[in-house]
Amino acid sequence: MDGREKNLHGQAGQPFLNPVEMQTLKSAVVAKARKKHGDILRDLYGEAVFDTIDRAYNAITFSISEFEKTEEFSPFDSKFDRVLKGEDTFTAQEALGLTLFKAEDKGNCAACHTVPTLANTKQESTFTDFSYDNLGVPRNDIVRGLNGKGYEFVDNGLFQNPLVNDAKLKGAFRVSTLRNIAVTAPYMHNGIFKDLKTVVHFYNTRDVDGALNPETWDPWRASEVDATKNTEELGDLKLTDAEEDALVAFMKTLTDSRYEDLIPD
Ligand code: HEC
Repeated sequence: MDGREKNLHGQAGQPFLNPVEMQTLKSAVVAKARKKHGDILRDLYGEAVFDTIDRAYNAITFSISEFEKTEEFSPFDSKFDRVLKGEDTFTAQEALGLTLFKAEDKGNCAACHTVPTLANTKQESTFTDFSYDNLGVPRNDIVRGLNGKGYEFVDNGLFQNPLVNDAKLKGAFRVSTLRNIAVTAPYMHNGIFKDLKTVVHFYNTRDVDGALNPETWDPWRASEVDATKNTEELGDLKLTDAEEDALVAFMKTLTDSRYEDLIPD
């Protein structure tokens, strides 16, 4: 989400080793994969695949990234896709949600979370334009306390990438996909919000005096990176409570059919 990796293969190599994710060693990953999938790995990458730890780790993470490109990984068979193909119909509330999602004077979500059409290719079908933006999300103190970075650390997102020099990109994170969003809480790059409705309420009222975070009943906390936050497209959308609910109902339709039974009420 902070754009630190150039490609899927690089990304697939990160979580195993990251101290705040799986915190394991390349050698341990290789030993495990060799035991369970050694034959397949030799078949695919040749007998020499286990000659060095790096070579084997590379093969394992490459396999993961190739899997992520398959239709099994991204079936595009949610209710939204079925409606697009004329195989299903939205409820009135879901249809209202889609209208608000696209309307520039309402949610305007589609300005960043691109809405696919039948003519779109699958890559354009993930509800992101793959750009980066600073939404002014507050720091997650619980995570910051646990991950050893300390409270003084400022997460500048994309700007931490040494190839990025534009100071306007401080605090920018990648526009998230909204596929399966109803079943992938917590939300935002730092997991600050537990509920989808809270995310919508944040977009709607971040800059409204007296607005409260419904998860804490405190006012919205200050943005972690305030100077560069987007004030043009969010902060005071003037949506009603029913309109917020409709946006949530619409986003629930983006769930792959195999996960539909996980959608919270
Ligand atoms: C200006 C571009 C922009 C607009 C407009 C926008 N978003 Fe986002 N959205 C983002 C970015 C960037 C993130 C990731 C932010 C982060 O983690 O700091 C995000 C994250 C999210 C997430 C959390 C994703 C996750 O996996 O945690 C949800 C849900 C979401 N947006 C829904 C919406 C809805 C609903 C609207 C309209 C009311 C909307 N967005 C409008 C850019 C935008």
